[in-house]
Amino acid sequence: MSTSDTGVVDLRSDTLTRPTEAMRAAMARAEVGDDVYGEDPTVLALEERVADLFGHEAALFTPTGSMANVLAVRTLVGPGQEVLCEARAHIARAELGAHAAYTGLTMRTWIDPRGQVDLPTIRSLFAPDMGPFFVPTAAIAVENTHNFAGGAVLPLSDLRDLREFATEAGAGIHMDGARIWNAHVATGTPLREYGAVADVMAVCLSKGLGAPVGSLVVGSRDAIDESRVWRKRMGGGMRQVGILAAAGLHALDHHVERLADDHDHARLLAEACGVDPATVDTNIVVVERSDAAAVVAAAREEGVLISTVGPTSVRLVTHLDVGRADAERAAKVLAQL
Ligand SMILES: Cc1ncc(COP(=O)(O)O)c(C=O)c1O
Repeated sequence: MSTSDTGVVDLRSDTLTRPTEAMRAAMARAEVGDDVYGEDPTVLALEERVADLFGHEAALFTPTGSMANVLAVRTLVGPGQEVLCEARAHIARAELGAHAAYTGLTMRTWIDPRGQVDLPTIRSLFAPDMGPFFVPTAAIAVENTHNFAGGAVLPLSDLRDLREFATEAGAGIHMDGARIWNAHVATGTPLREYGAVADVMAVCLSKGLGAPVGSLVVGSRDAIDESRVWRKRMGGGMRQVGILAAAGLHALDHHVERLADDHDHARLLAEACGVDPATVDTNIVVVERSDAAAVVAAAREEGVLISTVGPTSVRLVTHLDVGRADAERAAKVLAQL
């Protein structure tokens, strides 16, 4: 259903999509079993398919991207060790301290306005193991695309340079690829190339791909076996969950290439908001406004829902439920604000 059916254009997040009729039909047809017993054929098919897409050995279905991130990072970083990440990374800002609470790790951050890999700063932050003196760096986490940096794509060449450094330094790389599909469609970079630079990844089906629920941890067989134990420990062992995995398989079949439309719509909205569309890589537009809350309220009056992601930042996100006509209507409203 397009948001125009309700008269409201909802640009708050790409997590707001509702399953299409075809997706619901695929869910209804799904073969299921008890996934804690490893007996749900649809979950197994999804895990195998996603592992293969990224060229990794295995994958694990999780209810959320946040859980996938916690499980993935903890395969690389133990209690009393640190992970380095960009300051506005989802793992640092929006997972409510889960990595510290569950894993007992600490984080140090670098700042990049576009959420990019800043290798010189990462090198300077990197702490080798010095026994009882400093917290050792065990991993570096990157986010591709970077949500709070406006859906920015991390160039493959930077990721490869980071891979080289991390391997030399003996650190792991985690990639939060909640929107890796957007990066893939925007750049044409094969998913396997992204997979090749990371030891472990978290990828989401419930953002731009339009599934109602579902993310995966992707990595080595050992990392996934360990994550399966921790998923259960955290209360994330699910039973006949092939119903949800079927939505993910449907999304992979039908909703990846169409992300290009979301990217076009985002550029249209950027232009309307006075943001250079060339700076919009994918489906997220961040607009700096000193009166962010007032802009959000005024847009709501006109039936356009947007959100703040900081006191002076407004965020617009395009997705499956925003058609061309919705994007054009929202652009008109936003241009006036
Ligand atoms: C980059 C990124 N990583 C992880 C997540 C977490 O996903 P979830 O909301 O499924 O926990 C999000 C959610 O928006 C995200 O934007």
